[in-house]
Amino acid sequence: MAVGIFDSGLGGLTILDAISKRLPDVPFVYLGDNANAPYGVRSAEDIFNLTCAATERLWAEGCDLVILACNTASAAALKRMQETWVPPEKRVLGVFVPLIEALTERQWGDNSPPREVAVKHVALFATPATVASRAFQRELAYRAIGVDVEAQPCGGLVDAIEQGDEILAEALVRSHVEALKRRMPHPQAAILGCTHYPLFEKTFRAALGPGVKVYSQADLVAESLADYLTRRPEFIGAGQGIRYLTTGDPAYVSDKATQFMRHPVRFEAA
Ligand code: DGL
Repeated sequence: MAVGIFDSGLGGLTILDAISKRLPDVPFVYLGDNANAPYGVRSAEDIFNLTCAATERLWAEGCDLVILACNTASAAALKRMQETWVPPEKRVLGVFVPLIEALTERQWGDNSPPREVAVKHVALFATPATVASRAFQRELAYRAIGVDVEAQPCGGLVDAIEQGDEILAEALVRSHVEALKRRMPHPQAAILGCTHYPLFEKTFRAALGPGVKVYSQADLVAESLADYLTRRPEFIGAGQGIRYLTTGDPAYVSDKATQFMRHPVRFEAA
């Protein structure tokens, strides 16, 4: 048994990296659905079906706890999965809530009514499907009042990252930041609401300029998982190390993953 980490492709590796540093003794199985990426341009129905299939694949590896290290799946599919599909002995968790708890200065399990928070102007960069779901605004409204969110659907960016085209990815980051800043010239905080985007965090920071706090989803999710596993230690597996599975071509995906993570990553066929 291990903890399962799922993303449509390479992006979840940014989350796995932070999680495995925070929890070096916990075994993990990573699954990238590279054959079907990007998810961010798909319908909610499609994202639900693909995410359920990937989650079942991780259950077959003995991962009773699966983390959707993918904002698109967390935004478009997770609520429906938890309400209608996940059996009681399994858990599927997303990456949205830890981020929003940090933004709204809340501890886990704090269900008090929404209140005013320090940050008032938030820039959200995410895939078209995540932006269309409005899941970020919904979760934020449960916890905070008076926060203005300007969302930028970053079309094309995940494709460029999956294809390893760094020059195109950098150009797209700059143009998406410019587009957002035309609508919100002075955001106080920026959310990189797609797990692929931290691979280009430096470009986002440079384009946003000084004085904008960029939230690191990976570290927040790692902290939140560490906390969860102290409360639910039965989900810590007995194995060791990390296995990487992909629905795509393992040699191609391994090359791209190694390029972006800057350390060797070897995928096997899922
Ligand atoms: N990395 C994913 C996310 O966090 C998915 C991107 C995609 O497949 O479009 O949204």
